[in-house]
Amino acid sequence: MSVVSVPVDQEGMVTDLGVKAAPRARAAVVTPAHQSPLGVSLALPRRMALLDWAAKNKAWILEDDYDGEYRYVGRPLPALKSLDREGRVLYSGTFSKVLFPALRLAYLVVPETEVERFEEVNQAWGPGSPQLTQTIVTTFIKEGYFARHIQRMRKLYGERRELATAGLTSVLNKHVSIDLQPGGMHLILRLKAQRSDRRLVARMLEDGLYGEALSDWTDRSDEGPAILVNFTNIGSQRAAEALGRRILKVMA
Ligand SMILES: Cc1ncc(COP(=O)(O)O)c(C=O)c1O
Repeated sequence: MSVVSVPVDQEGMVTDLGVKAAPRARAAVVTPAHQSPLGVSLALPRRMALLDWAAKNKAWILEDDYDGEYRYVGRPLPALKSLDREGRVLYSGTFSKVLFPALRLAYLVVPETEVERFEEVNQAWGPGSPQLTQTIVTTFIKEGYFARHIQRMRKLYGERRELATAGLTSVLNKHVSIDLQPGGMHLILRLKAQRSDRRLVARMLEDGLYGEALSDWTDRSDEGPAILVNFTNIGSQRAAEALGRRILKVMA
């Protein structure tokens, strides 16, 4: 594959620039619910422009809806796939974020006409998913447990997101600003000083704290340093403040 990266702004992937950079691309890989890793949602006009491009060029759109269920502001957004009149979207989702990663279970929704081809390729190349795991997850969904689980987790994570943001901001306000996006499972701490985010996450790791450097997620030089930190296991504002103080220490 020859991969072309596309800039992202507050409305998600800048579709026009993508089309300009690679008008004849065979496929576009997108995370419309929450762009990975910036967390912004793809705006409706851009969704339409992307679908239009794919229809005209007979290109595929691979929609990776890896955490669309975790939206804390308003209702979950409909998938890009739901606007797909021409059958150009391959919709993929995973149970890694909404149940747990060790399940190793994901799914792909393809246009009716492609099902046979995908089944063949999957049989030849795919590692397969155990029937037992699939049956258990199916029952879990059918009997309503999954929907209830998602509702509970959305509420819990929504609260933790607020507490984590408040706690980290109160300690780190001088050094970072936090991008609060509508969904996802991590916060983006933008560093106010021009310092290396890679070095900072390396130092955090030495202190037993896990974060990721935004620089490792982009090939753009104008994005600025930032660290990605998960908030879903932070149970109180005090815990967030304690973590903030540890980050502050490694920043020194
Ligand atoms: C962008 C993106 N897509 C998909 C996934 C899910 O990957 P998997 O189902 O292999 O755990 C993740 C998990 O972190 C992700 O960040």
